[in-house]
Amino acid sequence: MTANELRSKYIEFFKSKNHVEISGQSLIPENDPSVLFTTAGMHPLVPYLLGEKHPAGTRLTDYQKCIRTGDIDEVGDPSHLTCFEMLGNWSLGDYFKKESIGFSYEFLTSPKWLGLDPRKISVTVFAGDDNAPRDEEAATYWKENGMPEDKIAYLPASDNWWAAGPTGPCGPDTEIFYWVGEGLPPAGSNKGTDSENWMEIWNNVFMQYNRVDEKTLVPLPKKNVDTGMGLERTNCILQGKTSVYLTEVFQPIIAKIEELSSYKYGTDEEKDRSVRIIADHSRSAVFILGDQKGVSPSNVGAGYVLRRLIRRAVRHGMKLGIEKNFLADIAQAVIENFKCAYPELEQNKEKIFTELSAEENKFRDTLRKGEAEFQKLLPNLMKNPKKEISGKIAFRLYDTFGFPLELTQELGAENGFTVDVEGFKEAERKHQEASKTQDAGAAKGGLAEQSDTTTKYHTATHLLQQALVNVLGDKVAQKGSNITNERMRFDFTFDRPMTKEEIQKVEDIVNEQIKKDLPVTMEVMPLEKATAEGARALFTNKYGEDVKVYTIGEKDNWFSKEVCGGPHVQHTAQIGEFKIQKEQSSSAGVRRIRAVISGGLPLEK
Ligand code: ALA
Repeated sequence: MTANELRSKYIEFFKSKNHVEISGQSLIPENDPSVLFTTAGMHPLVPYLLGEKHPAGTRLTDYQKCIRTGDIDEVGDPSHLTCFEMLGNWSLGDYFKKESIGFSYEFLTSPKWLGLDPRKISVTVFAGDDNAPRDEEAATYWKENGMPEDKIAYLPASDNWWAAGPTGPCGPDTEIFYWVGEGLPPAGSNKGTDSENWMEIWNNVFMQYNRVDEKTLVPLPKKNVDTGMGLERTNCILQGKTSVYLTEVFQPIIAKIEELSSYKYGTDEEKDRSVRIIADHSRSAVFILGDQKGVSPSNVGAGYVLRRLIRRAVRHGMKLGIEKNFLADIAQAVIENFKCAYPELEQNKEKIFTELSAEENKFRDTLRKGEAEFQKLLPNLMKNPKKEISGKIAFRLYDTFGFPLELTQELGAENGFTVDVEGFKEAERKHQEASKTQDAGAAKGGLAEQSDTTTKYHTATHLLQQALVNVLGDKVAQKGSNITNERMRFDFTFDRPMTKEEIQKVEDIVNEQIKKDLPVTMEVMPLEKATAEGARALFTNKYGEDVKVYTIGEKDNWFSKEVCGGPHVQHTAQIGEFKIQKEQSSSAGVRRIRAVISGGLPLEK
């Protein structure tokens, strides 16, 4: 079986269990300030997990591209990835533990589907704590499906409780593991007794609670199921391979790296690691650059993560002796490999190539400057009898000039110096703590907080989008939005700064719509009907799929119509006064507006 076949089989299986296939969404979360990227398949579904009605019903399935960079520095080993695909199925107040476990077991073991050896499968369930009881129910259903008692490990919340963020939907989970050790697992082996040889492939979360704050769990009005199966890992075990990098998901990319570097994968452990880092990071960079909401490298937020991924890939390319720009070549291989499942990569390929090359050039320039800076420091360093470069200096080279630690070490060694690596890490840790505190401030409220303020901002983005089109013309397209309780940001394509007059005009138009107190209504309809009616759509949905359409204004005389998940205010006077604070460049051809609202009417419950 190939990854493409696994993806199709999964969807087909859940369709046969009355699930509706929905489209995976952008990697950049909509209106969620607490995370930079979509990190799980459930992410775009948060409002529905909290009780909002989904247009496709109560049983859903999809595949979703995800980015997780929390452990970016560990990537390089045979299993960690920063970009992966998650196969998912959801019950929104429909079935619960019994059916969920039954579906998973059938899909994994039935010869009609994956046909995996049941003897090589083990599971974990929640052991219980002060917040919630031990999940005997889940264990019982596993046993009913034939899972032996000793293949069920009861583990604490750190293993078997799932939440996407500090607040939001959460609950106990049951995780499914596959034996990746030699032969068959010894009697009594499970994840609790052997954490090395059991690889997690699927997680079924029983979302019964909404975490409102650190101390408070509130039962959800309806019990949901959220599951996520790792596509790359499951594909890897189905093929009996020892590493995801040895499957067809990565092989064409690795072949390209081999061609460009003349290095043969599998001959040197250290160099293999570099190959894996380049393969993983370039795949992530292509997915982020080629996303529907197109992010570009920058010094903040998602753009900064992208920049780090690209630069780390370039560094490892240099280690393999690749001196020319090479990422665009590798991107070509990535696009070829994934364009069927993710057509946006093909659509955005010119942008992907251009941005990758530009960033590579910038980085090489940075390296030259860092080296010059190092040479300037050298006479002073020479006075140090210890022949050691302090962690502080090494960190400054890194933080201010983007000069990587390994290069400081290399240049140092050429001049007879060592680098205080511990001191570097200490300086880095302090710096990260400082920026984490800032992030926490920005993300106050957490993932699922659909507070009234963010809802109001959300409707304001629709008004702003239409006002921009009215003033600047049709070429204005939304590139992304980001909302906190304090402000909104709205990125759109436009090739020059707006004039003062244009900004004023846009602001006036938005405020006019608010003053008119227009109704905001929602209708569910197929995507093509929505676009035929003139609704704006970000094209993250499939043809024929039922979508929600939000209309601001009267039915036959509307101001704005957009395909959107919501939620929104009930009428525009709830937004209050709208003020544009800033209009500036965001990246090439993209402008960014920062705006605030104040003093609107309360939402009706
Ligand atoms: N949301 C769950 C996970 O990401 C399924 O593991």
